[in-house]
Amino acid sequence: MTDAKLIFGKLSKTIHRGFKFDRMFPSDDLDPNALLELDQLALVSMKTQDAPRSVMEKVVRLLRDFGQKQDLQRYGRYLLKRQRSRTSTEIPSVLPSAFLPEDDRDNGPLAKMRKNPAFKDLFDHAGVSNMDDSSLRRLAVAHKEDRRHVLYQMFWSPEAALTYLAHRYPATCAANFRVLYELARRAPEFQPRRVMDYGAGPAPGITAVQEIWPGIMEYATAIEPSEHMTQLGKYLTTDLEMPAIHWQRCLYDSIEEPLDLIIASYVQMEVKGQESRDALVKRLWARLRPGGVLVLIEPGTPTGFRFMHNTRELLISRVGPENFHFVAPCPHEGMCPLALTGRDWCHFSQRVRRTPHRVYCKGSTRRFMEEEKFSFLCIRRSPGPRSKYRCEEHAPTAHEKSYFWPRIMFPVIKAGGHSLIDVCCAPQNFERISVSKSKAHSFGYRWSRKAMWGDLWRFPKRVARPEARLYIPEKTREHLDRLAKRAWKALKWEENEPGYVEEKERDQQFYGH
Ligand SMILES: C[S@@+](CC[C@H](N)C(=O)[O-])C[C@H]1O[C@@H](n2cnc3c(N)ncnc32)[C@H](O)[C@@H]1O
Repeated sequence: MTDAKLIFGKLSKTIHRGFKFDRMFPSDDLDPNALLELDQLALVSMKTQDAPRSVMEKVVRLLRDFGQKQDLQRYGRYLLKRQRSRTSTEIPSVLPSAFLPEDDRDNGPLAKMRKNPAFKDLFDHAGVSNMDDSSLRRLAVAHKEDRRHVLYQMFWSPEAALTYLAHRYPATCAANFRVLYELARRAPEFQPRRVMDYGAGPAPGITAVQEIWPGIMEYATAIEPSEHMTQLGKYLTTDLEMPAIHWQRCLYDSIEEPLDLIIASYVQMEVKGQESRDALVKRLWARLRPGGVLVLIEPGTPTGFRFMHNTRELLISRVGPENFHFVAPCPHEGMCPLALTGRDWCHFSQRVRRTPHRVYCKGSTRRFMEEEKFSFLCIRRSPGPRSKYRCEEHAPTAHEKSYFWPRIMFPVIKAGGHSLIDVCCAPQNFERISVSKSKAHSFGYRWSRKAMWGDLWRFPKRVARPEARLYIPEKTREHLDRLAKRAWKALKWEENEPGYVEEKERDQQFYGH
């Protein structure tokens, strides 16, 4: 008699063994070190950030010696009001894309405008007659949005510059650090020897470069038109162990030698007009050497995202995806799926420690952390792994594989026993992945519980909803379609219907066609 029968008697045969065998999934790479490397590459978001200690000590000293706390705080509120971007409720519906096919080539509103003699002079005078419809729409939306949310060009007086330091410096420094940290992780062979910080202000960009690649910089230039900002920047960067920074008033003062890294953080929000912003991006792009990187950071608001979206489309349509690639945040060089939702905008968050309350209080004394929301683009001027290799499996190194992973676009929804993750992934999809606890480890449930907004998702995809954040339920959508069809029918006048001729005449009288 076996041991089990001795112990359980007859029951041993009937006991239901309520466990499932663990399933082993074939893995190409079972080496724990390689898996660890993949995991760490996917964790690109960072926890709470502090500005470098030596720099913050200088900031505190400056604020204590030169600023009246109450005055600075009052000025800070003014600065916030001036630079505040719109909220989510005011997001522009759908951002125009150069890649969307025109629905009605001859009957769309722009085509009608072109045909209309009343607009002939306007088109000729403004020199837009040779512009394609999507560029025209892009400019029109930018103009409308810029007017709705007036971009404010600050006069950086000594008080304003000092207030900016207290109010914004830790946050902008953290955003710069977060973006450059990801660049260093995902392009490990990239060594920025010649660096430019455009619109440098107190130069958080150069400080972050020095923190991430210590001792690498051979030449650094900071472009800053404001005298007072320049003084602050010079003071804060004097002790950095790097060659002296060349401070310039404008881009054209410097020698035209190509650069490895150009950073323009929180600058476009002070440049008025989409055409000026486009020209700025083109000028910066032209100063990069092949293989160099352009980093653009803006506030994480619909306006900041609009700037990033415009730059994206400009580069894809003019430079061509075979000549550059996005290191971050986009996992593809196609149309931006978030811009098409008209509800969301691509932005990320970085928790940061504020300036100490004893020298500057930003609202409440109870809060000593804040979430800095930012939109960014990190663009490298060379073909990337996505154009070199066909898929993730073909990419030989872990960091090259990471260019194929989707990006987590919102905080993970941690439900009971499963997680829902909104990701942006190639080709041009914004979708919701679901991972459940009952699946094997290789599906990444455990990892998903720790994943942060902005991380990469390196596990297999089980798509729960092809269109993430299904804004309109299917039934409502069908109903809207029916209503639209009925309305369309009602609008269409049949020629033999009563009243058709009178209506046509009235149209002619009003619109001239
Ligand atoms: C909001 S501050 C940002 C400073 C710094 N880059 C940061 O991230 O904290 C904007 C800076 O851009 C500068 N600026 C504004 N318009 C500019 C332009 N057209 N060209 C260069 N710099 C400009 C301003 O003088 C100001 O110092």
